[in-house]
Amino acid sequence: MSSGRIGVFDSGVGGLSIAGRLMTEAPHLAIHYYGDTAHVPYGERPAAEVTHLVETIVEHLVESGASAVVMACNTSNALALERVRSWCPVPVVGIIDPAAEAAVLRTRNGRIGLIANPLTARSGAYEKSCRTALGRLNFGINVLPVGCPKLVPLIESGQVATREARETLWEYLAPLQMEQIDTLILGCTHFPFLRPLIQELLGPDVEIIDPASYVLQELVRLGVTSTPALPHLVEVSGDSEEFGRVGSRLLSRNLNGVRHTHLKRFARLAV
Ligand code: DGL
Repeated sequence: MSSGRIGVFDSGVGGLSIAGRLMTEAPHLAIHYYGDTAHVPYGERPAAEVTHLVETIVEHLVESGASAVVMACNTSNALALERVRSWCPVPVVGIIDPAAEAAVLRTRNGRIGLIANPLTARSGAYEKSCRTALGRLNFGINVLPVGCPKLVPLIESGQVATREARETLWEYLAPLQMEQIDTLILGCTHFPFLRPLIQELLGPDVEIIDPASYVLQELVRLGVTSTPALPHLVEVSGDSEEFGRVGSRLLSRNLNGVRHTHLKRFARLAV
């Protein structure tokens, strides 16, 4: 069963913002992507359900031979990273700490905006990581979280440059602009697909932090590799054709042969 790929997962197409970067920046790495499209969005589910979904997916990736697992989902990080690390036999790469650290280092006025789904925004995970990153630095920071429930469904349907996407984004970004943030964390892996629109709406002076930027260096630091010359494998719990169509468009690369794989342990969840 050993496939020797790097496992990467999310509730849907969002984690492709990380998987796609790895495919481009480290073409020697083979990726096993799992998109839990049968249960997207995670952001409005009870925390215990999300934890169950996450543990089921990580088990599947490990049983399939993953040499490491990248939690390409902020909600999973916020709710289940430590728990999964406590039993997972391979390294589990998180994305919140490096992004929080980058935000703390880059902000000039200490006002950091966070856009995320409601569950991540409420969790306080980014605030906690920013405080840890600050350590003994004597520098006041203010993290301003905004829960954005309408964005994930838009991106799942491939809408990243429509008028509706722009208007919805502005609803969430306008209050942050009023607060004079100078740094914005994309606290949901779906949101990098809206990055051009976000930068245009906030203007060039606001620095955007995308957690995807730090994943490869973390894999390198951990010395994680994958079996050479293995093809990527993409699985979803929902509609595989739809995922292939939307994912290929978002990544501007052909996601061939997306498979539908239902995980039996999901059944313990009353959907
Ligand atoms: N893309 C995920 C995240 O980073 C989950 C979005 C969702 O399903 O609500 O949090």
